[in-house]
Amino acid sequence: MEIRQFRPKDLDRIIEIERSSFKDPYSRTTFYSFYREYPDTFWVYEKDEKIIGYVMFTTEGHIINIAVDPAYRYKRIGTELMKSVISRVTGERVWLEVRESNIAAQRFYYKLGFRKRMIIPKYYGQEDAYILVLEK
Ligand SMILES: CC(C)(COP(=O)(O)OP(=O)(O)OC[C@H]1O[C@@H](n2cnc3c(N)ncnc32)[C@H](O)[C@@H]1OP(=O)(O)O)[C@@H](O)C(=O)NCCC(=O)NCCS
Repeated sequence: MEIRQFRPKDLDRIIEIERSSFKDPYSRTTFYSFYREYPDTFWVYEKDEKIIGYVMFTTEGHIINIAVDPAYRYKRIGTELMKSVISRVTGERVWLEVRESNIAAQRFYYKLGFRKRMIIPKYYGQEDAYILVLEK
């Protein structure tokens, strides 16, 4: 198993996981733009030469996106990715936005020690966002 930086040739596989994980998936352009701007903090989780998860964040501590292939969930891969991110972040906190309806992700983040800090009404069009924060 290896957590390493994203490479452009990973994009097809990332898109595949993204589409099976979100009803409003990020586009190829969005992923590629993020990589161009933040190449050091776009990571993939690879096992037996297969990418099964990824995370995008900023060194200040903002989590932009995380997903694990549905066939590999509940195996602590998301936890491993987040723990690596938390130790890499330079600031004193890590934060993110999550859909009010995404209970699975909220449980995942609460288990890592995140707490609900704020609600942003209609952040996702019709849906509110919760801002979750982890104090390191
Ligand atoms: C959220 C996500 C990344 C978690 O990845 P994962 O590798 O399955 O998570 P882990 O195995 O590390 O889970 C750790 C803990 O989180 C909780 N958890 C994870 N998935 C959960 C779910 N679907 N429902 C409830 N709790 C869940 C569990 O309590 C688990 O602890 P346990 O192993 O003691 O039971 C994954 O479900 C995913 O890709 N979801 C779709 C994309 C998404 O919503 N991303 C977040 C956007 S803000």
